[in-house]
Amino acid sequence: MRRGPSIIPRPETMEVRDGHFVIGADTGVSAPPDIADLVRETLAIAGSGNEIRLSLVNDVHLGTEGYRLRVAEDGVEVQAAALPGLRWAVQTLRQLAESNRLPYVEVVDRPRHGWRGSLLDVARWCHPLPFLYRYVDLLAFHKLNTLHLHLTDDQGWRFEVHRYPRLTEVGGFRDGSSVGHASEGRTDHVPHGGFYTQRELRDLVAYAAHRGVRIMPEVDAPGHMQAAIAAYPRLGNAPNETLPVRRQWGISQHVLNVADETVAFVRDVLDELTDVFPFEHVHIGGDEVPSDEWSVNSVARQRMSAENLTSPGQLSGWWSARLAAHLAEHGRRAAVWDELLEFGIPDGASVFAWQGVDRVDLAVRGGHQVVAAPYEYTYLDWAESDSPDEPLAIGGVLPLSKVYSYQPPESVLGVQGQLWSEYLPTPKLVEWRAFPRLAALAEVGWSRGERDPADFHRRLGEHLPRLDQLNVAYNPLGKASPPTRRL
Ligand code: ACM
Repeated sequence: MRRGPSIIPRPETMEVRDGHFVIGADTGVSAPPDIADLVRETLAIAGSGNEIRLSLVNDVHLGTEGYRLRVAEDGVEVQAAALPGLRWAVQTLRQLAESNRLPYVEVVDRPRHGWRGSLLDVARWCHPLPFLYRYVDLLAFHKLNTLHLHLTDDQGWRFEVHRYPRLTEVGGFRDGSSVGHASEGRTDHVPHGGFYTQRELRDLVAYAAHRGVRIMPEVDAPGHMQAAIAAYPRLGNAPNETLPVRRQWGISQHVLNVADETVAFVRDVLDELTDVFPFEHVHIGGDEVPSDEWSVNSVARQRMSAENLTSPGQLSGWWSARLAAHLAEHGRRAAVWDELLEFGIPDGASVFAWQGVDRVDLAVRGGHQVVAAPYEYTYLDWAESDSPDEPLAIGGVLPLSKVYSYQPPESVLGVQGQLWSEYLPTPKLVEWRAFPRLAALAEVGWSRGERDPADFHRRLGEHLPRLDQLNVAYNPLGKASPPTRRL
């Protein structure tokens, strides 16, 4: 059997023969309608033939996302048991295609984990909408099936809410940002802001769905809410004080109050959110909730005693339970960060275990549905090396080899790489941090069998030119300077 070509993530099996099928002016596709469009767009074909044939078959072995693909003299034959599998086969063809040639191959492929995600924080910096499209496409190229959009935080609110327009009018804009590392305590006076309209996000959701990428929105509550409190002071614990949208990175002490009206407010927000994002999972945050304000607030203390809570921190669990129940009433599933392991995971919620591999294990042992996002393997906003050329980062180091070495427990839903954007103000820096580490994580989530770093490195050597063709500003394994930065 011949070696290569190099597909990332590595398929379950691939056999290569000598020869190529040449895509010509007449090459056409026969497939379910939406898939046929995807093939035409992806391979830039417009002919009327049916040399590229994709169909659905009854094959439980393939699961929802698996596929079989054969390129031979008479063209391309793809089979899958469901549409997601056909979509991933198209991405494999996209990686196989060298100009207009597809090598003769036989591939059988299916993922190890059903959740292969990427968190993009658009709250700290409002990345331009066209970049979100590009990013979705890059996820699909690596068979990553979930974009976790972190839409709200202390430093900015990016989701248009018709009922509460000040969330974006006020919460979407700040009058300065941290300069240097947040630990230096310096800020500038350069305004920053922006938000996405519901219509824009609906279109993005449709674009992503066409490529097999689901978008999970996050509205982080009851902490990380200073932008919302700036817009509507009645949500906070000092309703007569006006707060600015936070300039500095780091965690605000200002959290939502525990009034029924405030819970109702966030439920209203979730109603508009679920209207735009059809994906079952909706992330409601729950991380890093300082309870200082609740400790000294009479309404919070009353709530604690009425609910038999023994510490103010438990009000965080109380908050998440209310939001999760509301989502469940509407047929959705809440997703929460792993802090809730201490304060109560809401019924049916999925747990995003970020505070290390021990937390992944703890969440798994608790019988929860877990997405493994441990910082020491999956926080791609961390520096990749300790080189002085590294762009400023929150911390680190997380090299490519370490990402590739991650072994999540078999029983997790899957894995996810995090790109918190405090130190990623531009799309180019996002790409620099994301790639190629996200390609490694895609393989961790997708590929079964032995992890082989040398083989991965070899395949990456053939994959990076594909990223060049797409103009991705990836970190070329320590050989070039990073994109300029304004931090
Ligand atoms: C987190 O990094 N605060 C989830």
